Amino acid sequence: MTTLDEAAIANLVRDDLAHLIHPQYYAPDHESPVIFDHGEGVWLTDVRGKRYIDGLASLWNVAVGHGRTELAEAAAEQMKKLAFANSYTGFSNVPAIQLAAKVADLVYEDLTGVFFTNSGSESNEGAFKAARFYWNLRGKPMKTRIIARERAYHGGTLATTAMTGLPAFWKYFGPFLPEVVHTRRPDNIECDCAPNTDGECAHWLEAAIEREGAENIAAFIAEPVKGAGGVWTPADDYFVKIREICDRNEVLFIADEVITGFGRTGKWFALERYGVQPDILSIAKAITSGYVPMGAFIVSEQIMSALQQLPSDARFMHAYTNSAHPTAAAVGLRNLRIIEEERLVENAATMGDRLGGGLRRALGGHAHVTNIRNLGLIAGFSLVKDAEAATSYEVSEGIGRQVARHMREEGGVITRFVGDQIVLAPPLVIATAEVDQIVGAIEAAVRSVTGN
Ligand SMILES: Cc1ncc(COP(=O)(O)O)c(C=O)c1O
Repeated sequence: MTTLDEAAIANLVRDDLAHLIHPQYYAPDHESPVIFDHGEGVWLTDVRGKRYIDGLASLWNVAVGHGRTELAEAAAEQMKKLAFANSYTGFSNVPAIQLAAKVADLVYEDLTGVFFTNSGSESNEGAFKAARFYWNLRGKPMKTRIIARERAYHGGTLATTAMTGLPAFWKYFGPFLPEVVHTRRPDNIECDCAPNTDGECAHWLEAAIEREGAENIAAFIAEPVKGAGGVWTPADDYFVKIREICDRNEVLFIADEVITGFGRTGKWFALERYGVQPDILSIAKAITSGYVPMGAFIVSEQIMSALQQLPSDARFMHAYTNSAHPTAAAVGLRNLRIIEEERLVENAATMGDRLGGGLRRALGGHAHVTNIRNLGLIAGFSLVKDAEAATSYEVSEGIGRQVARHMREEGGVITRFVGDQIVLAPPLVIATAEVDQIVGAIEAAVRSVTGN
């Protein structure tokens, strides 16, 4: 544990500004950064010794909390024995085999084949390639397009940036793959669907399939809860309808559970709640709780058996040096054991109820808050000028930024804002007092910033 003096911190800030290109880089964000030193459970401590609750599990990923020596030990043991060996043609390693079997056991019953990646972006990129590859094997090479959703976040590679339905991520990076398209509100929509919390319903997918032609579409990709786009939860029957539409149109359904996988919503995987299974599942983040990078895409028995019986002139030529990395796999195995032994999926359900209930009690009916939503330990709410009229704050007014700053500086809680949405996803190890502290910090921040 290191506490630094102001001169040492100034040197770090200078070097950071000079050399470190951060994710989503905008230099002024880094003029007075919080520089973290250590963490324990849901707590993070910066180099000045100030403590914060990590209200977003860092980036929705540190499920088992910070400072878990079991994971450090699992990594060290594996590194001492065999830090890395490649798993290309004809080679394998013990932890990767064990983790693939464990993951196949935990995920939806129909899914059996696991391809390990290093990130959520790589998982989605690979899922897309696997979908195209599968349709070629099935003699349908025209099925190349992918439909994604508005406000979705799927990653930072070129294809996954295109899938992302947040225009802020596109500026100056185009042109993108023309085969990536998005759902949008159909003209003249008349339906009695209960909408998702961001207004979308299953008819948006039907309309997109009609527009593009089912014969051209490889897959539909969706996060069960849209995360980085502002935490938007689905209507109870939305994914049941999505599954039916995909089946009827021979479109593969890719569930991006990079955030929701491994317990976040109070179920091991979010679609369990609706009795729905995807054809391909993307995961990352909580598989190792962020202690080392790892992800995977997992394919259905049907796709797996197609891959196991490739014609002699075809090979699934998709690879990363670090696929099935033994050290990452050893950490993943130990991490999943912690989630099971400490019953963290159940804790996410219980603490999620407490967080959602606490937010509704503290802010339900507040003049500037609307649409309070959560599914287990992923939660969000909207800041509005007038809750009854539900008019939005202009993002330029920076209301979300002000609330998040107040929470951090006065309430000791770190989280994220997405425009006017405040989003939360604390570590799954969180306890009642810490949930209550988050709710208290939010209520104080909203009341102070809105003056109400
Ligand atoms: C739903 C979702 N998919 C994909 C990604 C991309 O994952 P990564 O940043 O590990 O590449 C993220 C990252 O936040 C995500 O939230």
